[in-house]
Amino acid sequence: MRVVASSNNVKIVDLASLRRVFEVDLALVMEAYSRVMRSQRLDKPLVVERNTGIVIGGVEVLEALDLLSASKAPALLIGQDQVMIKRLSGEILKVDDLLEEFRLGRNRLPLRNFEIKYLIDIPSIDVPLDHLYGGVRIDRRVLRVYDDTLSLLVENWPTPLVRLKSFSSDYRRVYAKLESFNPFSNSVKDRIGWAMIMDALSRGALGDLLYEATSTNTGIALASIGNALGRRVKLFIPKTVQRVSDVFLKTLGAEVVRVPVSLTVEAIAEVEASARRDGATHLNQFENDANFKVHLKYTARELDQQLRSIGVEPDCIIGGLGTSGHMSAISFYFKSKYGDSVRIVGVQPAQGHVIPGIRRVESGMKWIHMVKFDEIIDVTSDEAIEGVIEVARREGLLIGLSSGAVFKAFRKLSPERGNIVLIFPDNGYKYAEQLEEYFRKREQTK
Ligand SMILES: Cc1ncc(COP(=O)(O)O)c(C=O)c1O
Repeated sequence: MRVVASSNNVKIVDLASLRRVFEVDLALVMEAYSRVMRSQRLDKPLVVERNTGIVIGGVEVLEALDLLSASKAPALLIGQDQVMIKRLSGEILKVDDLLEEFRLGRNRLPLRNFEIKYLIDIPSIDVPLDHLYGGVRIDRRVLRVYDDTLSLLVENWPTPLVRLKSFSSDYRRVYAKLESFNPFSNSVKDRIGWAMIMDALSRGALGDLLYEATSTNTGIALASIGNALGRRVKLFIPKTVQRVSDVFLKTLGAEVVRVPVSLTVEAIAEVEASARRDGATHLNQFENDANFKVHLKYTARELDQQLRSIGVEPDCIIGGLGTSGHMSAISFYFKSKYGDSVRIVGVQPAQGHVIPGIRRVESGMKWIHMVKFDEIIDVTSDEAIEGVIEVARREGLLIGLSSGAVFKAFRKLSPERGNIVLIFPDNGYKYAEQLEEYFRKREQTK
């Protein structure tokens, strides 16, 4: 048992070092919890047997402290001969017997089946609850309190980087950066929605009405951020995009126009003309350098910091290409810093295939031509879904279709060694229609 502080006979000990062999009724724990919560103090120590660390007295207070997330407790340490433990049947037990019975049964012993008498006085104490927490100062950011919804976006970065354990080995570590942790579109696109709007705002170029061509995610980001800033948004969506996108966007109050094109970028001319006619601001994610810059300043840099925090230098980074904003910035950052020791791989849909959010390089992208990619990998739409399913079933993460394509590209490369980072742009919840269709097709061909 680790003693943290001591006064008289009562010591402050680590909660985790105490042994819990007794089970106490929930009602008693709740009573102790509200007593401590109300007074914010403890007036009696736990009674702990010195050699075994077993908590004999104040078990309900121990459980209450655990529920209060305290990390320490005041304890009176006593010897075996200073307590008498009796079963209701009258049998007298030693503390060691209790421990043995607990171990054999692999279950806690109901406290109500025992009578416990101390042969010493239990002193009164006055310990503030505040003194029973760890030394870490918990501030607003750690507790995730935000002043407004825009801070929820910016102060939440970095998005998580998680090791995909089931695809890692002794020689290969695979990490996924989860852009779905952005709050508005649950995608990487919140970053550019915010950056393009802030950039236009700082130049005095942000009108009251915003027009944009989008495959959904940028649209949701612009509609959300637009709402927070009192702007109206009209979005032009290709006919190939899942129907549910309209529902999300309408809920956010955006006007939605379905355009008869299969790629978002093909709607640009129409958006530009409409914006000019209606006096709206066309931010244009395909050309706007705020897109590339926000990924360079934040996405790429935070990924590097996250990797460095665990002593990892990346050997390969794989990500999807839509506007090419995030992967071009990541390539530029990592190639500038680590040279060609890091391999940058872009992922595009195979010829004739549709994967929401990504498209083929030859359809026209801006920043990809200013940086270096080592390889571009083709993935079919069914392969992307297979990737989604494999990650869902192995890791429990329901990723989006372009993330599934990124995962499939990793499978195609199948690097056996090194540190590999996969950029997952969003999660799977928007793509129920495509997943449903895939399962339906599979049922039919069985
Ligand atoms: C789901 C999804 N994946 C990937 C991308 C591609 O990202 P980028 O435009 O930065 O190339 C997008 C962009 O729209 C997307 O929405």
